[in-house]
Parts: sequence; C-alpha cells; structure tokens
Amino acid sequence: MIKNDLFLRALQGETVERPPVWMMRQAGRYLPEFMAIREKYDFFTRCQTPELASEITVQPIRRYGMDAAILFSDILVIPQAMNIEVQMKPNFGPYLPEPIRKASDLDRVINPDIHESLGYVMEAIKMTKQKLNNEIPLIGFAGSPWTILCYCVQGQGSKSFDMAKGLCFSDPATAHSLLQKITDTTIGYLKEKVKAGCDVIQLFDSWGGMLSPTDYQEFSFRYIEQIINALKDMAPVIVFGKGCWFALREMAQSGASALGVDWTCSAQNARYLTGGKITLQGNFDPARLLSPPKTIKKMVKTMIDEFGKDRYIVNLGHGILPNIPIENAGAFIEAVKEYKV
Ligand code: CP3
Repeated sequence: MIKNDLFLRALQGETVERPPVWMMRQAGRYLPEFMAIREKYDFFTRCQTPELASEITVQPIRRYGMDAAILFSDILVIPQAMNIEVQMKPNFGPYLPEPIRKASDLDRVINPDIHESLGYVMEAIKMTKQKLNNEIPLIGFAGSPWTILCYCVQGQGSKSFDMAKGLCFSDPATAHSLLQKITDTTIGYLKEKVKAGCDVIQLFDSWGGMLSPTDYQEFSFRYIEQIINALKDMAPVIVFGKGCWFALREMAQSGASALGVDWTCSAQNARYLTGGKITLQGNFDPARLLSPPKTIKKMVKTMIDEFGKDRYIVNLGHGILPNIPIENAGAFIEAVKEYKV
C-alpha cells in the first residue's frame, strides 16, 4: 500500500536494493522553511496545530525525499498531558516550573484521557498521512520513561541530570511510581498514534547513557520493555538509546524491530553485540555534516559498507544540528540513494 516501502522492508530484515534513510530531528532549525514557520508561531502552537505540525513534518521530505517521515511533535507532550507544566523557552529549551521532587508531588500527576489531552497529535497524524499520500511511511515517537523522568524531576535540560538520579537513588519507590505512570500513559498514547496512522514507532532514550549498565536495567530498560511488549504486535518499534551501547545485547532480545546506535559505537561492535540479526539504525556523527559534501558522501558509503546494506537504516547518531548547511544534509541523503554495493 505504501509506494516506497524500503524502510518497512529493512525493519522486517528483508533484502533491499539500498538501505532506507531518514534523519533524527529532520524537521528542524537547519531548514529555512522551518525557520519561516518558527518565526510566526511558538513551539507548542506548532505542535498543537495539526495544519502546522503536518506541514513541518513534510517540509524535509519535499526538499530531500527521505524514505520515512517523522511526525513533528515533542517527547514532552507526555508530561504536559499528565498535568506537569512544560514550557519551551527560546534560547533555553524545556522548562518545567513545578518539577517532581518527592512522593507528595505525584499526587497531582494524572493518567490523562489520551483523546482529550493529546487528540491534537492524532489529528496531526491524520493530516500528515493525507499529505504523504502513501508515498512513504510515517514514524510516531515517544521518549523513554527514564528520559521523560529526567525532565520531570530536573525541571530543565542538564549535563548530569543529578536531581533525576538523586530521586532514583534516594527514593526509588517514588521514582518507580513516576516511571510506571509515564509508561502507562506512553503505552496508551502510542497505541492511539498507531491507530491514527503511524506506521512505525521510535522510542527516544536520549539520557539512558547517563546510567550505569545495572541502573539502566532498573530505571530505564524495564519500562522500555513494557512499551515494546504492548506495541510490537501493532507496529514495528525502534529503540534509540543515546550512549546505550552497553545495553545493545539485551535490547536485541526485546522484541524491538530495530535498534538505534550513536556514533561512539562502531558498526562492527554494534553488529557483534546484537548478534548480527537485528536491523540497526544510525550512526553518522551529526557534527560530521559540517564536513564538505564530498567528504560526507565518501563517509556515508563507508558507513553503509561497514553496517552492510541489509538490516540497516541510514541515519545520524543523534539529531541534526541547527548549523548544518542545507546542501550538506542533501549530500547525506543523496549518498544513500546513489549507493551501490
Ligand atoms: O525528528 C523530528 O524532526 C521530529 C521532531 C522532534 C522534536 N523533538 C522537535 C523539536 C523530535 C523527535 C523530538 C524529540 C525530543 N525532544 C527529544 C529526543 C531526541 C533527542 O534529540 O534526544 C528530546 C530530548 C526532546 C526535548 C527537547 N525539545 C529539547 C531538549 C529541546 C530544546 C533543544 C533544541 O533542540 O532546541 C526541544 C525543542 C524542540 N523539539 C525543537 C524541535 C524542532 C527546537 C525548538 C524550536 O523549534 O523552537
């Protein structure tokens, strides 16, 4: 039904002519057409207005022709729906004025009615599917419960998320209770996203790499597994854990269809840790898109040769940076489309 199904076939482990390509944060500030919309509407207005969110989602597709689109939204719409206020401050990032720091703070955290509080996301998905006209698949996403907890407890971005870790290690019961609430809400939310039309789900565990391997199992992966189990029969699930190479072995056994890899883990090591059978996604250093286009193309070819063209999705190792020249992002996509073994 979807005309270009390279991405779906790679997720199923099928042999493909070339690997599919998309870029994390492909709808973003490196695109002049994104900046034009950004000037007129604040962040959550863009997320909450289906016409805007769907337009921003298809902007990079029109320009570059990636093999998958990712819905423009944010992982922090989940705490927002759970009655934890989230602001997006210009030149600062996320700000949560009333963070969760102790057991009694949980009293005001709700498990929301998904349609009531996040119905706008489903509307944006339906509108995006119409605009995509079955050309390519649409990815829906959520943050991992641990990554969401990081923001809920810290109240803002951080280099160490020391308060988030502090809650986990000093009052694990409260941390687990918050993680479970986030997990339950996320499962309900992702199921609705699939019903609304998302073809694939990606979980972003952006701050999983902050935890030791043992703590990762307890405070992050356990909850990711619940989400995979609840979703995997409805849609393929991709798990991206930044800095989480140490957990790739367990992740490969989890029922996920693909695993994201960042640029600090080599293709060879990622294949070794995952047993060579699961589809991998990644892992170009986003800053490497600052190299000249010719160098980018050469490096992309080498990267595909190292991962192998099958069971592989070309992507960056994290989100694209705002200072990437548009022609360099173009060279990245083109190199994949021109790929020959
Ligand atoms: O990939 C896409 O193009 C889809 C859109 C998308 C956004 N956020 C839009 C956005 C996705 C998949 C996200 C996920 C997200 N949001 C993550 C996980 C991925 C990652 O990068 O690790 C995280 C940690 C967040 C939380 C968040 N949202 C932060 C820390 C920030 C501020 C930093 C920044 O990049 O500016 C945001 C804001 C945000 N989310 C922007 C975009 C395009 C930029 C702000 C703006 O456009 O005004």
